[in-house]
Amino acid sequence: MHSPTATTLVLTDRPEDLARAGAMLAGGELVAFPTETVYGLGADATDPQAIAQLYAAKGRPRFNPLIAHVASLDQALALGEFPTEARVLAEAFWPGPLTLVVPARAGGPVCELARAGLDSVAIRVPDHPVAQAILQAAGRPVAAPSANRSGHVSASDARHVEEDLAGRIAAIVDGGATPIGVESTIVGCLGGVVTLLRPGGVPREAIEAKLGRPLETASADPGRPLAPGRLSSHYAPQHGVRLNATALRPGEAYLGFGSAEPGGAEPVARLNLSRSGDLAEAASRLYGCLRVLDSVPSTGIAVAPLPGTGLGEAIQDRLSRAAAPRETASSDASDTLAKS
Ligand code: TXA
Ligand code: MG
Repeated sequence: MHSPTATTLVLTDRPEDLARAGAMLAGGELVAFPTETVYGLGADATDPQAIAQLYAAKGRPRFNPLIAHVASLDQALALGEFPTEARVLAEAFWPGPLTLVVPARAGGPVCELARAGLDSVAIRVPDHPVAQAILQAAGRPVAAPSANRSGHVSASDARHVEEDLAGRIAAIVDGGATPIGVESTIVGCLGGVVTLLRPGGVPREAIEAKLGRPLETASADPGRPLAPGRLSSHYAPQHGVRLNATALRPGEAYLGFGSAEPGGAEPVARLNLSRSGDLAEAASRLYGCLRVLDSVPSTGIAVAPLPGTGLGEAIQDRLSRAAAPRETASSDASDTLAKS
């Protein structure tokens, strides 16, 4: 484990740095790198020691499994059993912002700790050239949760990763801002049922069009979560978040969408996700805007109404998690408690 005072190397996206990042991962070290969704904190998915370090660096509970990232569908087939639907979705959306949860291949390389002991495995083939180069250099599946402290807002920029993880990990590869800005869509393909476990960068509508039928919805029962990490107070800034705000209360900061002006009090600070009402622009700006508004003293962050379709479903999901009451120590929000 890197001591809290250890320095974190900042690497560029030049080929020699990407080769070095891959070699560091293969050597069991923790390296953050950009994907097209958000920055991931990578560790060798086949090495339980590296995975244990990863959970510790993030402050993430070990019952929350990780996504294994590989460079191609061929490599993915070595990790899991792909039912027909999974194969169809992989061919349609990989490389890209889609994660598939499928039965883990017996004797497959992703270690049990990375799967949190489940007999399924979450797999993604990212499309970002930096991620692709690093995965190829590492030559093994790389587990990569979002590169933030557990319970915090995800990182869509190398600076966000530094804020959360500098001194706790070996290196950060700076590949600029991540183009999509929200995490991958997670679809479970288990037991003949295809379930939307987390809305994300691939809109539900695109997946349903490919499948020719609607996706099942994940269980809302917190005792039996289908995606163990989908705890309601995830993605949480320090300040309270209030959704669908059309009139501001005194002392609030304002996160707008579109050109409508809120009524009520003057905000202490204001940002807009997309003045033109473009959901892709809004997704790419979401976590950066939340981080900035969270750094301003306020009584809370009021968020304008947004559509819930297309990429709006993922944005709404993250915002409602940011707005949820904080959970207790049994959840991924243990950090949130620690800092409050
Ligand atoms: O865009 C993304 O998906 C980013 C980038 C870095 O790839 N990664 C990411 O990882 O968001 P993370 O760890 O923050 O979220 C992964 C989610 C967690 O909620 C976890 O519970 C769920 O995937 N998950 C992992 N394995 C699973 C499994 N076998 N069954 C159900 N859910 C699983
Ligand atoms: Mg995360």
